Parts: sequence; structure tokens; C-alpha cells
Amino acid sequence: MNLGAEFPLDKDLLYLNHAAVGVWPKRTAEAVKAFADENMHRGAAGYLEWLKVERELRGRLKRLINADSVDDIALSKNTSEALSLIAYGLDWQAGDNIVTSNQEFPSNRIVWESLKERGVELRLADISVDDPEAAMLALCDEKTRLLSVSSVQYGTGLRMDLIRLGQFCHDQNILFCVDAIQSLGAIEFDAQACHADFVVADGHKWMLGPEGLAVFYSRSEARDQLKLQQYGWHMVERAGDFDAVDWTPAQAARRFEPGSPNMLGIYALNASLSLFEAVGMDHVQKGVLKRASHLMAWLDAEADLELITPSEKGRFAGIVTFRKQGLNREGHAALYRELMAKGVICANRAGGIRLSPHFYSNLNGFEACLRPLLD
Ligand SMILES: Cc1ncc(COP(=O)(O)O)c(C=O)c1O
Repeated sequence: MNLGAEFPLDKDLLYLNHAAVGVWPKRTAEAVKAFADENMHRGAAGYLEWLKVERELRGRLKRLINADSVDDIALSKNTSEALSLIAYGLDWQAGDNIVTSNQEFPSNRIVWESLKERGVELRLADISVDDPEAAMLALCDEKTRLLSVSSVQYGTGLRMDLIRLGQFCHDQNILFCVDAIQSLGAIEFDAQACHADFVVADGHKWMLGPEGLAVFYSRSEARDQLKLQQYGWHMVERAGDFDAVDWTPAQAARRFEPGSPNMLGIYALNASLSLFEAVGMDHVQKGVLKRASHLMAWLDAEADLELITPSEKGRFAGIVTFRKQGLNREGHAALYRELMAKGVICANRAGGIRLSPHFYSNLNGFEACLRPLLD
């Protein structure tokens, strides 16, 4: 496949920001343009075709995370919404606790903190240690109902051992929730192998889709523990039978989708995921890890730059974060603005500069481009 043709990025950009918002492949932009044209010329005359694309997307998401069934896949607005459906769906008892880490993106902390008024305690493990999983597991006890963690931490890029965490939760009867937004589309993922009860991830980062369309996976037994929060025509078993007076919620995860789908987003994300299937996730993962390793090796060799991301095998994915010696938080914020102004698209995270290349990123000559900007 000619990847250059799929990613005709402007030459003035060094795009290293997939951990924030990714780049659409050409096929995605074309799918959206074609869908817009179709709407303009034919309205929804082809709605049955649209539903086929929606089913296709669910199938692709199922394969991407290795769900047992497409029935386990719901389409949500974003990661935060899906986390909220879990937090406000579970029947908490005063005294229950939730374990997460001190490196989580705010969405995977605030929602659990908000349960304080119901008597639920949030325990934050300090995972800036040699054995981050052990730090999380040490906080679990007989009152722990749920452990929620990002597969890859958004700031440091630390990649968690999901198999180890999930196995523990499985054995201890603790619900296991994975915010996979920083790994889906970058590295291989297996919801069943890691015993995930819930997996949530918006499509606009590594999956190279648009903002506002997320996957919300729930294992069927875990799904049954969630009280519904939202109701409408689309979440019932016999959706489309508008004359029916009786209704029951769909068995499938569609029960979390109250109304009309985000069809424009579905067209876009479906096109993006078709690229991953064509390339193969093993190849994508290799490409991501190779580029991250390359950046880390360079940063490691630069005396004035300190690598924040752990570089041991299995401990990183696509995020590479560093700090420059002698610069404080404000200094890094200023450096970030300078880099952006010069076309190095990156992020200011973890008190440093976060770089996040994808499998297709062309890093040729990045040293010559970056080094003068860091002096
Ligand atoms: C780990 C993590 N979770 C959640 C989010 C936010 O997701 P959303 O906007 O889909 O709610 C981000 C965004 O940066 C993130 O890095």
C-alpha cells in the first residue's frame, strides 16, 4: 500500500500529536466528502446502506479489541461519556472503593471522584514507581468494586500491564475498566485476554477518526450490572417498531444508544479503521514502537534533554515525553508554543513536551528539524 498517498500531510508540518488528535487518512476525508454529497443530492434515500456501514463499523471495532461479540460494542459520544455511563450505572454501596492511578487523564478521575456523595472512596495509586501494577493492586481490598486505568498514560506514556491487572481483578471479583484511548489503533489490544469488563476509547487519536464517536465495550455480565441512564427509540430490543407500546432494553450494548446514531462520524471512523485492517495491526504496532524507540534513543543521547517516558520493552507505546534541563513548567509551555509555531505539532503534557508519531509518520531528518528549536 502506498502510505504516502493515504497521508498527504502538508510538508511544513512534523505531525507528532496523535495522542491528542490524529490525522485523517485520505480515505476518511473522501468518505466524509462522499457522504456529504450523498446527503445533498439524495438525502437519506440510501438509509439502508448507511445501516450497513454502521454494522460494518461495529464489526471492525469488535475485531480491533477482540470482543467476543458485536453485541458487546456500543457507540458513544466520547470516552468521558462512556465512563460516566459506567460510573452512574453501577449500584454503589457506601463504603465501596474504586482504585485508579495518579497519572490518569482527568476524565478517568473526575467521574469517580464525583461518586463521593454516594459514599464511594477513590484511591489513587502512585504509579511513578518501578512496579506500577503492584502499586495499584496494593490499594485493592474486599471493598474494591472497580479498578479503572488507562492502557497508556496520557502524560508520561507509561504502558500498563493490562493482563496482570485484569487477571487480578478477575480473581478478586473486581470490575476492570480500561480507558484505551491511548492505545487502540496504535498497539494491539485484546479485551478478552485482559479480562476487561469495560473498554472505552474515542476514535480521534490513534484510530485516526473524527472527534465525537467512541467505542464503549462491555462484557455481557458486566453490562447487566449497569442501570440505564438514557432512554429512547434506539435502545429498545425492537428498535424501529414505532407502534409497539411495550418495550424492553436491547440485550446488546445498543441499549446504551438512546437515539439516532452519529452517521457522519460512523462513515469517517469506518473508513479509518478499514486502513488498519488493510495494513494489519501487527504492522501498525511495529511501526509505532519503532518510531517511539527511535525518538527515545535520540532524546536519550542529547545531554540536555531528559526522557520521561520509560523506554523498557513493554512499558511504552506511541507517546514519548521529555523535558529540557533548566526549564520549568512555564518554560516548557513557551517551548511548546515555539515548536507549534515552527510546525512541530506536539503537546505540552506532564510538565514537558509530548511527541506522538503514528505508524505512517515520516521521521526522516527530524533531528535536524527539532534540535535547533530546542537550543
Ligand atoms: C487517557 C485519556 N482518556 C480520555 C481522554 C478524553 O477523551 P474524550 O474527549 O473522548 O472524552 C483523553 C484525551 O486526551 C485521554 O488522553
